[in-house]
Amino acid sequence: MLKVLAQRGFPTERVIALASERSKGMTVAYNGSHLPIEALHEDSFKGIDIALFAASSDIALMYAPIAVEGGAIVIDNSSAWRMKANVPLVVPEVNRDDIASNEGIVANPNCCAIPLTVVLNPLHKKVGLERVLVSTYQSASGAGKALVDELDEQTRAIAAGTEPQTSVYPRQLAYNVVPGGWRPEADGYNEEEVKIVNETRKIMHLPDLRITATCVRVPVPVGHGESVFIETFDAITADEARAVLGSAPGIIVEDDPHAKLYPTPHDVAGKDEVYVGRVRRDASTARGLALWIVSDNVRKGAALNAVQIAEEAIEMGVVSRT
Ligand SMILES: NC(=O)c1ccc[n+]([C@@H]2O[C@H](COP(=O)([O-])OP(=O)(O)OC[C@H]3O[C@@H](n4cnc5c(N)ncnc54)[C@H](OP(=O)(O)O)[C@@H]3O)[C@@H](O)[C@H]2O)c1
Repeated sequence: MLKVLAQRGFPTERVIALASERSKGMTVAYNGSHLPIEALHEDSFKGIDIALFAASSDIALMYAPIAVEGGAIVIDNSSAWRMKANVPLVVPEVNRDDIASNEGIVANPNCCAIPLTVVLNPLHKKVGLERVLVSTYQSASGAGKALVDELDEQTRAIAAGTEPQTSVYPRQLAYNVVPGGWRPEADGYNEEEVKIVNETRKIMHLPDLRITATCVRVPVPVGHGESVFIETFDAITADEARAVLGSAPGIIVEDDPHAKLYPTPHDVAGKDEVYVGRVRRDASTARGLALWIVSDNVRKGAALNAVQIAEEAIEMGVVSRT
């Protein structure tokens, strides 16, 4: 988030970095200097206009109301507030105007729901969505820095011929693909799959959208892939879909398999846009598309989207002290 703020020249008078007691005394890089990390406490938000939260749901539930009470607008990355009725859940390319209805907290959506809705929205406007099937290929960083480190250590251990250790994730991720690791929920789904379904419906204002998801963790440090099948109300060809997506905000279409052109996490990591490739007709249905999405889950799936919300909030005049 600090990197994104600096890269985008976000207007700031003062920036403070908060974390747990564990990080107190350490520093974090920001805009060519180093910010001392302060331990989060109830007085941390005095004089703060915008509080970007990127901690657990427990921390968000406890401290977001305190920050709002102190006069800040909170943009929260956790899932704590996302489905609350009075909290807008925002992807600026899709539902920017929802920011205006905030009561102090704006929620930043799930890292798969953000790129998915960026792509679904222009198709919905053009031909209507009847049904969406999503399979995700989610990178280690989606579970936080600890799993990125564990993937790295496991990969090194395997390369050195030693036994890889598994402690952060329920299964070894290196040299593997894991269809789990999220809390199980009803009917065989897990927490992540339920988030993608519910959040997509909320962001797109389509409460009855027929959508289902299967979430899978893959041994990639950064960049989530999503394989998506879409049934549409009106017919659309692959060429027409590429044209619609290519002119939509925040999307880059990279789609020429003959030239080996398709987005991969390795190439998309560090980029801001949502990349789409492998667009083709779903031959199993009358009006269907299949496509492949990749986006940087740490940037567009988290930090960048949060900073974009903050930028829009300023432009819309909903930040109290600016
Ligand atoms: N990674 C993604 O792709 C992604 C995408 C969308 C949403 N999210 C959500 O964003 C949130 C953060 O995820 P992350 O991947 O950035 O996790 P992370 O790498 O584990 O970082 C968690 C942060 O929370 C801080 N923290 C922990 N306990 C705290 C406490 N008691 N008081 C104050 N700060 C505390 C940590 O500080 P210390 O270092 O001091 O412990 C650290 O800065 C989560 O809710 C996650 O679900 C993540």
